[in-house]
Amino acid sequence: MMFTAALLSVAPLAFAALVDAIVTQGSYTWKNVKIGGGGGFVPNIVFNTEEKGLAYARTDIGGVYRLNPDDSWTPLTDFANDTYWGFWGSDALATDPVDPNNLYIATGMYTNSWDPNNGHILKSTNRGASFTAFPLPFKVGGNDPGRGMGERLAIDPNNNKILFFGARSGHGLWKSTNSGETWTNVTSFPSVGTYVQDPTDPSGLGSDIMGIAWVTFDHVSADSKTSTGSKRIFVGVANMGADNVFVSEDAGVTWKAVSGQNSTFIPHHGVLSPKEGPALYLPYANGIGPYDGTAGYVKKYFINNSTWVDITPAQGIADNAYGYGGLSVDLQRPGTVMVAPLNEWYPDADIYRSTDGGNSWTGLFTTSYPPPDYQLFVNRSYNYDVSKAPWITTFATGDTKHIGWMIEGLSIDPFDSNHWLYGTGLTLYGGHDLLNWDAAPRKNVTVASLADGIEETAVQGLSAPLSGPLLLSAVGDVGSFRHTSLTTPPTENANPIWAGTASDVDYAGGAPSNLVRLAGIAGQPIATSNDSGVTWTPLSTASSTASGGKIAISADGSTIVWSQASGLSGPQYSANGGAFAAPAGLPSSALVVADKLNTSVFYAISGKSFYVSADGAKTFTQTSTLGTAQSSTAIAASPFKAGELFVSTSAGVFHSTDFGKTLTSIPGATNAWDIAVGVPKTKSARTPPVLFASATISGVNSVYRTDDLGANWVKVADVAHGFGSASGLVLAADARVYGRVFVGTNGRGIFYGEV
Ligand SMILES: *[C@@H]1O[C@H](CO)[C@@H](O)[C@H](O)[C@H]1NC(C)=O
Ligand SMILES: *[C@@H]1O[C@H](CO)[C@@H](O)[C@H](O)[C@H]1NC(C)=O
Ligand SMILES: *[C@@H]1O[C@H](CO)[C@@H](O)[C@H](O)[C@H]1NC(C)=O
Ligand SMILES: *[C@@H]1O[C@H](CO)[C@@H](O)[C@H](O)[C@H]1NC(C)=O
Ligand SMILES: *[C@@H]1O[C@H](CO)[C@@H](O)[C@H](O)[C@H]1NC(C)=O
Ligand SMILES: *[C@@H]1O[C@H](CO)[C@@H](O)[C@H](O)[C@H]1NC(C)=O
Ligand SMILES: *[C@@H]1O[C@H](CO)[C@@H](O)[C@H](O)[C@H]1NC(C)=O
Ligand SMILES: *[C@@H]1O[C@H](CO)[C@@H](O)[C@H](O)[C@H]1NC(C)=O
Ligand SMILES: *[C@@H]1O[C@H](CO)[C@@H](O)[C@H](O)[C@H]1NC(C)=O
Repeated sequence: MMFTAALLSVAPLAFAALVDAIVTQGSYTWKNVKIGGGGGFVPNIVFNTEEKGLAYARTDIGGVYRLNPDDSWTPLTDFANDTYWGFWGSDALATDPVDPNNLYIATGMYTNSWDPNNGHILKSTNRGASFTAFPLPFKVGGNDPGRGMGERLAIDPNNNKILFFGARSGHGLWKSTNSGETWTNVTSFPSVGTYVQDPTDPSGLGSDIMGIAWVTFDHVSADSKTSTGSKRIFVGVANMGADNVFVSEDAGVTWKAVSGQNSTFIPHHGVLSPKEGPALYLPYANGIGPYDGTAGYVKKYFINNSTWVDITPAQGIADNAYGYGGLSVDLQRPGTVMVAPLNEWYPDADIYRSTDGGNSWTGLFTTSYPPPDYQLFVNRSYNYDVSKAPWITTFATGDTKHIGWMIEGLSIDPFDSNHWLYGTGLTLYGGHDLLNWDAAPRKNVTVASLADGIEETAVQGLSAPLSGPLLLSAVGDVGSFRHTSLTTPPTENANPIWAGTASDVDYAGGAPSNLVRLAGIAGQPIATSNDSGVTWTPLSTASSTASGGKIAISADGSTIVWSQASGLSGPQYSANGGAFAAPAGLPSSALVVADKLNTSVFYAISGKSFYVSADGAKTFTQTSTLGTAQSSTAIAASPFKAGELFVSTSAGVFHSTDFGKTLTSIPGATNAWDIAVGVPKTKSARTPPVLFASATISGVNSVYRTDDLGANWVKVADVAHGFGSASGLVLAADARVYGRVFVGTNGRGIFYGEV
């Protein structure tokens, strides 16, 4: 996979290399550690309408994937590196209805300051095998509010050189007439959008204008279909309470609001049904998603007689406390349409299907409260299959949800009425027996997790113990995992079940079956295990009101130190499961890590200060200073030798072999974020451990390895595997296999690389 940067303007480096380092390009094989179930929001799935079986899924922070015939997915944007990590934010995609080889993605992570770069249109002429990036003169927000609406990027089926793109932030509607290479502002378009999700958001993200939500060509009506391009184009805008569906009848020269529309709510998609007049189907919500929506309706607009019809599935106030998200028509069966609630939290999201153009609907389940106990009874008309990611079931304990939430993307295969896919906040579901829904008597359809290959977790913590499971992970939103295999998904999400983000995990260096983890279980932030993570027990002495941060366990597993948590006034330690107390001698911001082999020893950093405890974290003393570092980020203690450790700082990497009494700067890295200690190629008393670092070396932010304490560095990332933003990476080194490293990304799951 090659990323072509021919037309990409590369941002000037904001720093110069202070130390000349010897850096060579490594030769690594990279694969994902398979979790298998997505693990994050899949905003949309887009099928090509010209070629059977060609489809793409976009994720909000982990790039775009192409569907394979066996239901698995191939990632297409793994080249994203620190230069343009926003390439993993995909706010829209378009697959060419004329030439199926062409794929376009609108990329950029955030429209606020978090992503410094303007957006790009990534264009591929080989279905995503390689891309050329064309810069846009504004930012794109692939992880902004409203990212499931769309698609805001569309190719004209009557002339595939013409594309429209709807911008955020008040930048309006844009048009390209040269296959996406250059773009001009359609200044005649009457609305740049007014809706903002949260005007008070200090980050500027929620307070940004969502803008143009979708573009849909009427490429079929006789008065629209021309060889120079479709004349009639519909555009949806995130306005609430003011016109939000616009149309051009002259190929985008002039525009007007579609008359007769009800603008109470916001249209999330505009889906053309070519053989129903044609008609445009529009699901609406009173928010832009993906987490909101407490009211909405579904409308159908007959283009040829300008008639609006309300086809909302759930009527009545009690049943209608949600907005609508994903909507799809079956192109093989005019009048067959499905629509999903954006967020219907209880008892579950229902998905509705109509075979009569929206006049009548049925759902995936019905509910009742039958006597004698009047308990909720859910009568399901689907088989739930999570065999490709078995851990998904465990989150559902005590929960009533299978179908999902944040359902913005729902797609029926245009060539196969039995095949459908939809995206949720957790995974991607679908099946191959959708017509069962229409059988009389009704037969169950399959709702299967079909996200194999989509790995989009945001990794928070990794630990690779000396024995037992190969890897332990703590990830955003979906908890923590115990990986006994790197190629098959974990069967369960570490017990007790997750309830959100896990922020860290550690093992006891001298007693590796003893583990501790920080997981977002309400009121039970810490759990420990003494059987290598098969079972976990909440630590009852941990504060029930604090959460997150970093966790360390002493070499013998007896002492736990929790630092950098929200809700704690500073680090706290607990010995033998007892009450937590603050160690003496540490500032509140300190990060604490255990020596991997000496039970009494802990290390801590804060800014450029380095601290050591020799009494099991009861008291710390500052022993040294980390050069001129403004900040320090991580300590990696060697699992092979007591007293040996590395520290990553804004002034590079420091090394100690005397329990932190003295720390010396190792050459090469001028800045480092995370570090990990791996096994040397040949183990002897004289060989230093291998060090991996996400660092700046010779001005390049990437992932590196050194086998000789910084004299030589190997760049382990390559052109095809960039790992996105270097500052957000979480590293762990395999303590058993030389050269093997785990790279936890912010949105593309965990990679492992082997020499
Ligand atoms: C990212 O990849 C591009 C294209 O291969 C390359 O020009 C750039 O130097 C890379 N940046 C980093 C930080 O590795
Ligand atoms: C594009 O045009 C709109 C008017 O439709 C205008 O409000 C917006 O500022 C323009 N954006 C840029 C980046 O030129
Ligand atoms: C528009 O929709 C809202 C919400 O469903 C409804 O209350 C209102 O009556 C509708 N307006 C018109 C003119 O139909
Ligand atoms: C609209 O299209 C339908 C179906 O093609 C057709 O029967 C009807 O006559 C058309 N109406 C108008 C006003 O053109
Ligand atoms: C508009 O056209 C559709 C089909 O194209 C038809 O079903 C509907 O009855 C028409 N409505 C009116 C008001 O003419
Ligand atoms: C469950 O739903 C199916 C399909 O709608 C229906 O045929 C069946 O009678 C329902 N069963 C119960 C117990 O409600
Ligand atoms: C459909 O699946 C549900 C479980 O999801 C099951 O309870 C029900 O019996 C099945 N119905 C039929 C007709 O197989
Ligand atoms: C392992 O942990 C459990 C639960 O905390 C505890 O009951 C058990 O005694 C521990 N076993 C050992 C050998 O420490
Ligand atoms: C562990 O560290 C303590 C405190 O520095 C020291 O007294 C002790 O000798 C060390 N133990 C071993 C086995 O190195």
